[in-house]
Amino acid sequence: ASGMSRSKGPLVDVHTHVYLPRYAAELRARTAAPRIMNWTNPAGKAEERLLILDGEPNAGRPVGPQYWDRDEKLQFMRKHGIDISFVSSANPWLDFLPAARADSLARELNDDLEDYCSTSPEAEGFSGLKTLYGFGLLPLVPGIEISHILQTIDQIKSLHHVRGVIMGTQGIGKGLDDEALEPVWEALQEANLVIFLHPHYGVDSKAFGEKSNGHVLPLALGFPFETTISITRLILAGVLDRYPSLRIMLAHSGGALPQLSSRLASCIDHDPVVAKRLKHNARYYLGQLYYDAVAYGPEELDFVSGIIGRSSRYGAGGGQYQTQIGSQRLLFGTDHPFFPPLEASQKWQSVEDNLGAIRAAHWNGLGVAAQDDVMGNNALRLFGLSQ
Ligand code: URA
Ligand code: ZN
Repeated sequence: ASGMSRSKGPLVDVHTHVYLPRYAAELRARTAAPRIMNWTNPAGKAEERLLILDGEPNAGRPVGPQYWDRDEKLQFMRKHGIDISFVSSANPWLDFLPAARADSLARELNDDLEDYCSTSPEAEGFSGLKTLYGFGLLPLVPGIEISHILQTIDQIKSLHHVRGVIMGTQGIGKGLDDEALEPVWEALQEANLVIFLHPHYGVDSKAFGEKSNGHVLPLALGFPFETTISITRLILAGVLDRYPSLRIMLAHSGGALPQLSSRLASCIDHDPVVAKRLKHNARYYLGQLYYDAVAYGPEELDFVSGIIGRSSRYGAGGGQYQTQIGSQRLLFGTDHPFFPPLEASQKWQSVEDNLGAIRAAHWNGLGVAAQDDVMGNNALRLFGLSQ
């Protein structure tokens, strides 16, 4: 089902979102962002709009059943030959809720997601596998008791189709370098759950000036820079030294981190406060991470893959670290239902671009084997579904 040039490998989407009906209802009941509101479009037609940030341009974005209806997800998957999807709640998750509400809604939504996945059709040609698996939610909000986050991790461990958690960049209010999160990293490592680190807030919008560029600057630049800053802070706090088996997958191919990792390493080396803090050279940690392949171009994929590949050279003590094959840490994603075609068309350009990039990348000479890994085999291994 998955394309002309490949014979049998699965096509697995690890970056695809849903607003579960219970979550959409929560957004509809609100009067401030994030919210779903009724709107009359210029043609006089009533529709719903999604406003996820204060001051969002263009009255937000159109929102419809593609965000919550499971049949639409499955139709989209069929259209693009996607065999299996790992579905995650879309931003801003529970970030805006009071602790008690975030806590109860996290558990309810995790149960909803398990239901959404466990009752999905079997993946054709992959016996015993479903078409849908998921990333759950943790109540990561200010004022939450850490024990409640740990209880939610326990809940997720018991949900067979929920194989990870999606997480924003704010932690419980102070970011991902907050010592209070230590037991959370420990529990996530122990549970072997994959953390999908995803942006929402972007960067200070003053940086984008006063000209209207729609959503282009916050999405193209703000999102990936937010991810870059947040994972860098986590690295600088030594989290990957203390929890080396933590499995973190970065949205949008790690944003700017791959491009800036040698500069980061140099800045660390030249900083008297930080120089001796980390066990390894900063470049080493890039080989400990996973990256979605939502980069839209083959050169970018080859670049990220190369950066991962060289990371083991920078481990403390030299050659004792396993060489990383970059293409084994990149995973196909679509970002559905965001970036729909502007004109009604059969295929989604954003999806075709990302698939085309995987096919056109050089992959350090590994060819079709690397393509198959990125398209789906890596995902099945990472999430423990290998057959
Ligand atoms: N826009 C969003 O708000 N979230 C995404 O995941 C992609 C685009
Ligand atoms: Zn996304």
